[in-house]
Amino acid sequence: MINEQQTSVPQVPTHWLFGCVPEFRKDALDALMNYATYGDVVKVRYGLLVDLIKRQRGTAAYLLSHPEDIKHVLATNDRNYRRIEFPPAAKRVFGQGLITSEDPLHRKQRRMTQPYFHRQRIVSYAEIMVQKTQQHIQGWRDGATVNVAQEMMQLTLSVACKAFFNMDLTDKTNELTRAVTVGQHHIIRQFRSFIAMLTPEFIPTKNNVRFRKAIRKLDDTIYGIIQTRRASGERPNDVLSMLLDARDEEGHPMSDQQVRDETLTLFLAGHDTTANALSWTWYLLSRHPEVESRLLGELKEVLSGRLPTVADVPKLVYTEMVFAEALRLYPPGYLLSRTALGNDLLPGGITIPQGADVWLCPYLVHRDPRVWPEPERFDPERFNPEAKEGRHLYAYFPFGGGSRMCIGESFAKMEGVLLIATIAQRFKMTLLSGQTVVPEPLVTLRPKHGVQVQLCKRS
Ligand code: HEM
Repeated sequence: MINEQQTSVPQVPTHWLFGCVPEFRKDALDALMNYATYGDVVKVRYGLLVDLIKRQRGTAAYLLSHPEDIKHVLATNDRNYRRIEFPPAAKRVFGQGLITSEDPLHRKQRRMTQPYFHRQRIVSYAEIMVQKTQQHIQGWRDGATVNVAQEMMQLTLSVACKAFFNMDLTDKTNELTRAVTVGQHHIIRQFRSFIAMLTPEFIPTKNNVRFRKAIRKLDDTIYGIIQTRRASGERPNDVLSMLLDARDEEGHPMSDQQVRDETLTLFLAGHDTTANALSWTWYLLSRHPEVESRLLGELKEVLSGRLPTVADVPKLVYTEMVFAEALRLYPPGYLLSRTALGNDLLPGGITIPQGADVWLCPYLVHRDPRVWPEPERFDPERFNPEAKEGRHLYAYFPFGGGSRMCIGESFAKMEGVLLIATIAQRFKMTLLSGQTVVPEPLVTLRPKHGVQVQLCKRS
């Protein structure tokens, strides 16, 4: 039973039986924004049904909106928190990979993987990023209309596969990104529907059948990557070789299942988030010609029409600011969740009871008008060095924080800058009229129906 110590936390009125689920099903972002109006810490009940399923009275999440409390949970006292219990579909996809595992496995795997994402190391990935982008946009025709969200998924997937696994998957990216979408919908369906959550995977419902097909596609691809490498006997210095060659203290290699889980985790986390961030960037740029024209000015000054290299990245300051601002408005990891292992006193004075979940929502905190004046306005100047000075580090956390901070942050930032610089110099994108681009909060924050644009080749 949850051990409540504080009574002064505002509690959001939710359905007595279904808790916050109906509101999340309707519009999760709207629900979160609404909850936060009750205070910097608010309690959101899960309802009697979850109480019964978990055999625990008063199951609830605490939504934290103050940067100091967020820092406390993610970094200062992160030992008191674990990842929330994932629904079966998420466990099926990610297994015991870096995103889902807990200590001591997580610490061990993270220590092993970390060197492959160090700043010095990712420099070698820059060439792959630019080369894959150039190849991809060679297929783009002047005047054509494309769904740029789909294009970005395919592009970042081919970059991740080449960089992490030395594999060219360019011809398969379409079917793979479709499988990822099916997986995301199924995971979220289980989060937001008790029936979906409690229906075992072997029962052949329409959704289960689609999900199983998608998982098979992803598994076949990942096991294919692993087997090809094993059979080749080659060991290029990449993440996959590291996973295959790793030995524990007793000299045992990782099990096939563990290699699969880590590989699939990097495969998914390494492309989907960045693709969404870039899709939002193109959407915002196409709606803000003044920002676009400043961006083009910088690209002209630094690159004069040539392709960017890693040495250009530090000079592409405004380009990075544009990407950072897109991540503020549409953070792909829009909701981070934890479960408290013990009672915990937050810096704001409220105690999180043992067993309660904690929600940290970058989408919400990035729109707090106390920190971000006119929060809905797209303004990359928020990220110039003076503007950043004095701002709380955790008022902006698109990559999380603490021991579970995104391992791919430097990779993603460099990829963002290089892809924007390469593409924006060659093509202008104009939003097609008649579409409404709205965020869809799945596992990541995606543009619901994609972003349809017309391409115009720049001379
Ligand atoms: C713009 C792009 C990206 C964004 C916005 C993003 C965001 C995040 C966030 C918010 C977390 C923390 C989740 C939490 O604390 O609950 C995270 C974790 C993670 N990210 Fe990223 N990410 C991005 C790109 C990447 C890339 C390129 C990789 C490369 C493989 C990656 C791999 C991971 C992994 C493995 C974790 C789990 C880390 C751990 O728990 O130790 N991400 N990411």
